This record gives sequence, structure tokens and C-alpha cells, in this order.
Amino acid sequence: MRRALPVIVVATTIALVVAAWRFLPTAPTESDRLQSSAEPSPASTGSTTTSTVTTAVPPPSDEVVIGADGIGDPGFPLSGNGGYQVEHYDLALDVDRPTLTGVATLTIVASQRLDRFNLDLIGLTVDSVTVDGEAASFDHRDRELVIDPVAIVEPSQPVEVTVRYGGEPRPIDDPAGPALLGWYDTDWGTYVLSEPTGAATWFPSNDHPQDKATFRVSITVPSDETAVAAGVLTDRTESADGRTTWVWDMTDPMATYLASVVTGDLVLVEEPPIGDLVIRHVFPSADAERLAEIATRHRAMIDLFVERFGPYPFDSYGIAVVPADLGFLALENQTLSLFGADVFGSDVTPAFADQVMAHELAHQWFGNLVSPEVWDDIWLNEGFATWAEYHWIETSTEVDPWELPPIPLGPLTNLPTEELFGPNVYLRGGFALEALRREIGDEPFFALLQEWARRHAGSTASTDDFVALVEERAGSEARAVIESWIHDEQIPTLPPR
Ligand code: ARG
Ligand code: ZN
Repeated sequence: MRRALPVIVVATTIALVVAAWRFLPTAPTESDRLQSSAEPSPASTGSTTTSTVTTAVPPPSDEVVIGADGIGDPGFPLSGNGGYQVEHYDLALDVDRPTLTGVATLTIVASQRLDRFNLDLIGLTVDSVTVDGEAASFDHRDRELVIDPVAIVEPSQPVEVTVRYGGEPRPIDDPAGPALLGWYDTDWGTYVLSEPTGAATWFPSNDHPQDKATFRVSITVPSDETAVAAGVLTDRTESADGRTTWVWDMTDPMATYLASVVTGDLVLVEEPPIGDLVIRHVFPSADAERLAEIATRHRAMIDLFVERFGPYPFDSYGIAVVPADLGFLALENQTLSLFGADVFGSDVTPAFADQVMAHELAHQWFGNLVSPEVWDDIWLNEGFATWAEYHWIETSTEVDPWELPPIPLGPLTNLPTEELFGPNVYLRGGFALEALRREIGDEPFFALLQEWARRHAGSTASTDDFVALVEERAGSEARAVIESWIHDEQIPTLPPR
């Protein structure tokens, strides 16, 4: 797939460049990375770990079981875990680069009587685990932290699991591409880039979108540094030893892969709110003024997307720009999208930066509010964000972005893991929605997007759910159109407007 990219690079129309932005080398180093192939790594797929018992069918409620070591995503058998859901993560993190020391308190609710259960955690050392205050024994191997509490964990009542851990977090290989995922330590600070499987490199979690939870993240850093996470800043306390603790609250459900922390030589910039919506960004100190100006362009995008998709889903939005090249431009971390500085570099046009900003903003509805049920449903994130990005272009410029590059783009599902973020997911996914829009008309199409966001808010949804909604709202002909865009081997043609 990615080998076809140079074709796009030499194509000259604006529309083609627009259409291909995710795959264009934006800096000399990125093209090298894009060309290197990425095998799923044993560390992240966990293929070397021995599986514990998986209970596919829930047993009678009095039976005591062992929680599964995966949540049931066929492409990612060790992502997430079975037998419980996390309601809340309280993460107290002390960042003393390169060391991270954490106390994670998870409020979990079991769905069955559990003798034992797993969390996902990679590479750090666990010092102790308690369950409702009682020391529990544990075994930590690869991605799986197996916790064996003294008492049976009874279903339906919340239990507090506290994990004390630490070490020098390191990113893992990306099963879906050449990037590295997880916690990055640099000479100016730290950041995280987790999608799809990197969250477990920095906190013990049920690391799959099927288990969303609220978060409080307290980050202690040297007082001359800034520390940000998802949501709203609720406390900042400087202690006598020259360290400051920043507390960020995310009170809406969040998937683990969208949780973020950024620390270092950065400035936190607050813009006037939009109604109740808090707007705050974080920028490298040296470039803060210029970036703050650029970031104000989100205001018009928020206006457009609220009109199209319904209310902005969270209490805050903003971007974190880091002085690095992420390898894929940007990532839609919840309420605080992460951008590599390359997106705003001098070799990049303002229009290009706007596209990326619109794309990550749209993910707050499509991806973050409504998340994929399994990773193979990823076009519900990337296709929708690409459609939104093009819609921003057609609304705010003279460019008609709806021109598909002449490259083969296969079906949107049943993806090999390494093609999760490939051009078919983004481009064919975005054009599939545009085809649906042309089939049913603007107003019904926007109403359908709003119903999608409303119906699955705070949760996950599948490709089948989307097809069913299309049929429900627009009938069987519309259903046939979207199905052929999703499944046909050959990409359909986009009808003219
Ligand atoms: N979701 C990101 C975006 O399109 C891209 C993430 C790519 N992830 C990866 N592991 N390669 O905005
Ligand atoms: Zn995206």
C-alpha cells in the first residue's frame, strides 16, 4: 500500500495532494520511515505469552472464574482483559526524567466472580498491588499483569485496585506501522503516542477501547516545567522541594489509547472559552506565540463541526505541539490532540496545517466519543475524520477535494494489522461517506452523522452498527451503496454531485 505513495507525491493537482496528506512525507526523515516495513512485534501482540483461561460464554453467576487475558478483539488477542470493566483511573505520576514513578488506583467492577484478573502493563516494574486495601500477589510478564487477590472479587460492586510501579518507560513497536508507541522521553520533556496499543507502556490498564473510563491524572514535575493531560486543570500545587503537581480531570469516558501526558519546557496557553468549552493548548516555549495564533483557527472549525456533528462532546479542547516528528503528523488524544512540530514547519502550507487540525478535531466525535468496537473498525475513525477534513476544505476554500488518486484502494475491513492506518482506511473511508452523502442528500446525511454520535456516545460501535443505521435512516438502497464502498474488492466510482 505505502509503496504507491510516490505516485501521489508527483501528482500535481491540489486535490490529489489534499487527498493524500496522511501519506506524504512531510519531512525528509519520514519518508524513510514510511518505506520501512513493520512486522507486528511479539512484545505488542504478546504472542509469546501463555494464555490464561478465556470464558467466551458467561458462566452461572455463582461460578468463580479467571479473567481472560484479552478483551476479545480478534486482531489484538492480548489487548484489554476480560471479567471486569474499569470505571475510573486515578494516576499519580512523578516524572523525573527518564524515570517514571506511578501509583495507579483503578476502580473496577467485575462482571463475574473473579479469582484472578489481568491488567495490561509493559516494561515497568511493579512494586505492589492491593485490592480494596489488601495486598494481592501478582505476576508480571510481557503485556500481562496477573493479579491474584486474597478474596474473590464479587461482581457488580466497585473494587479499588492500586498498583505501585515505576521504571524508565520505553515505547514499543507499532503493530500497525513503522512508528514506536507509548511513552517518549526526550531532552526537553515527555509525551505519549499510544494508538493502538501503547498505553500499557505508562500505566496499568484495561487497554482496549471497549473499556472506557473517567480519569484523574496528577503529574509531578520540576517547577520550571509544565505538565498537561486530558480534560480540565483542577489543581496545581508547588511543594517545598521545587516540584509542582498538576492535576487534570477527564470526567467523560475515555479510551486508554487516547489518554495523554505531556511534560517539559512548554507553555500552557488559554484562549477565551467557546460557551462552556475550555480552550487550552500547550506549545514549545520558543515558538508559543506563533503557534497560539495558528491554533485560534480551530474556533471556526469547531463552529462548523458542531453544526454538522452535534454538540462538541467534551469539556475542553486544544492541541499539544511537541518539538518532534511523530512519524504520522498528529494523534487525536482526547481533548488534547498531539501534533509534531513538523505540521507547522516552514516547509508546510497553512492550508495543510488546517487540514490536520480539522482532522484531529473531527476525531473528538468520531473515534473519541464513538470509538471502534474492534481495531478492524478503524475506518469509522479515520474515514470519518478524513471526510470531515475534506468538508472543512470544501467549506473554507475554493478547492474541490473530492478527487480520488488513481491508486488501488481495497475494502475497509478485514485489514491485515499493518494496514490499519493505510490509505484505503483514510481515503476510501472518507469517500465512502461522501458517496453516501451524494446518495441521500446533505441534510439527511448530516442528521445521520449526528444520530451516530448521539446513539453511541461514550461507547464503541462497529461497522455493522453503521450499516444498520444507514438502512434505518435511509433505506435499503443507501445500505447497498455503503456496503459496496465498505466491502467490494474494486472501489466504486463516486457519482458527480
Ligand atoms: N489516528 C491518527 C490520525 O489519523 C493516526 C495514528 C496512526 N497510528 C499508528 N500507530 N500508526 O490522526
Ligand atoms: Zn485520523
